[in-house]
Amino acid sequence: MRKRAIITSALPYANGEIHLGHVASTYLPADVTTRFLKMNDVEAYYICASDDFGTPIMIQSEKEKKTPQEYVAHWNKRDYDDFTAFDIAFDFFYRTSSQENIEFVRYVFNKLVKNGHIYKSEIIQFYCKNDNKFLPDRYVTGTCPYCKADDQYSDLCEKCGRVPEEIENPKCAICGALPVKEKTTHYFFKLKTFGDALYKWLDENQNLQKDVKKYVQNWITSGLVDWDITRDISWGVPVPGDESKVFYGWFDNHLAYISTAVKFLNDKGINGKEFWNSADIYHFIGKDIVYHHYLFLPAMRLGIDQEYKLPDFIPTRGHLTLQSKKISKSRNWYIGLKEFLEFYPADYLRFYLVSINPYSQDDLNFDWDDFAVRINSELIGNLGNLVNRALGFTKKTFDGEIPSPDDYDDKDKDAEAKIMGLASELSVLMNQNHLDRALKKIMEFSTYFNQYFQHKEPWKKGPGTNTCVFLSVNAVRSIAIALYPFLPKSSEKIWQQIGLSGTVSEKQWNEISKIAVNPSHKLGDITPVFAKIEEEDIKKRKEKFETK
Ligand code: MF3
Ligand code: ZN
Repeated sequence: MRKRAIITSALPYANGEIHLGHVASTYLPADVTTRFLKMNDVEAYYICASDDFGTPIMIQSEKEKKTPQEYVAHWNKRDYDDFTAFDIAFDFFYRTSSQENIEFVRYVFNKLVKNGHIYKSEIIQFYCKNDNKFLPDRYVTGTCPYCKADDQYSDLCEKCGRVPEEIENPKCAICGALPVKEKTTHYFFKLKTFGDALYKWLDENQNLQKDVKKYVQNWITSGLVDWDITRDISWGVPVPGDESKVFYGWFDNHLAYISTAVKFLNDKGINGKEFWNSADIYHFIGKDIVYHHYLFLPAMRLGIDQEYKLPDFIPTRGHLTLQSKKISKSRNWYIGLKEFLEFYPADYLRFYLVSINPYSQDDLNFDWDDFAVRINSELIGNLGNLVNRALGFTKKTFDGEIPSPDDYDDKDKDAEAKIMGLASELSVLMNQNHLDRALKKIMEFSTYFNQYFQHKEPWKKGPGTNTCVFLSVNAVRSIAIALYPFLPKSSEKIWQQIGLSGTVSEKQWNEISKIAVNPSHKLGDITPVFAKIEEEDIKKRKEKFETK
């Protein structure tokens, strides 16, 4: 049987546009990984959905005088279009408010009830008398009871990453008033009782990042709290048997990983549940939602007797800062994906964001000057140069026809060995999620062949010229394939310029290490693959960020 994989990335709230911060930590690494798996004969599907429910969305739709349904439909479409323009190739993009997800969420709840993991409890909730609303989650801000950081949301402290049991010094986030406390009944999920099982699962899963595991295990040791999983609002999945309440967004959203994948697969005539349970499951996330994905999500799957298996990989990355400052939509300190792509090709951003993005929790920084330098000197100066040089020279000197190689000297043998070794060298890194290092390896391969070409001086047309041209064009072919998961458009362009048939997307990864451009093959039409970024242009882009 072919290996199987389901890849998801954190579901974007249907509540505003996608920006560079979103794509850097989750959507892009997940897309690169999925493309790579597909080239390795894995039956892999990249599944995503808009995250439609919750108080913020309800309140924002009220402000815009739209129904929540209209509001989320708008952002669902817009997000999908923006992702597509960035060549994020979801196999299926759905929504947490789908009928399938609503039914699945209610099913899971009922099963958790049956298994004794849910209880009802009367609680005191903050209520704002100005706004006549219960104030869940983000609607109360205050001091984190654990680390004492000020100005934190009541459902998540962004400083220490924990979920406060009760925020100190509460304030209504809508009007700033001191909220009053009112009684209401909520449902709770017994997260606490899963502590030992979660600890063990973390211990046993060798694919999870060690450092994340460690601090999650520390959270478990210092004691988990049960999760309040219902809200007194009208926009959400109604609680079975108590339909005036809805589920908290973090109860239903991650279940859409499963319900969306299952729907997609069932529609294709594949048994979705069976596929899920025999696949490697990847959830790509940013480090702000570690708590939800390393504790809450696996606990819920344990709570339904692992009817759907737990994740194998939860690749977790840091946040993107912009010109070294924290991204903030409200302070207009962000770059919308759509706007960015009006100025530069998707592949430039993909190249830059993968290059600066290690497989770790460290934050990464988008800097306009650094972006221009990396594109101009690395992507164009190194890789573009090799492509142009090898193909251009063949065009000019051999009328685009690949010559038969002569006998190989030591340098040629070494160059050939580099091609032979590339596929597996890259595989190791890609399989370990070190996408940045793999891309760097491709760049080093390109540097190597630039030097090889330089050293061989084929323009002098001495002995060895034919071999140099033959191997250099083959190296360009290897690059075209290896580049595909990272820069799909440029990869296909290079492929066409070499004059090869089909598309790179259909190629297998091990093709990278084949010598497959044969003597007397004719190149296609050659034009520069990349255009340089002008300094003037970057200046204009930077202006918006310099006044602040
Ligand atoms: N919408 C959430 C956020 O942006 C992520 C949801 S991921 C899910 O933080 F798995 F839980 F759906
Ligand atoms: Zn208020």
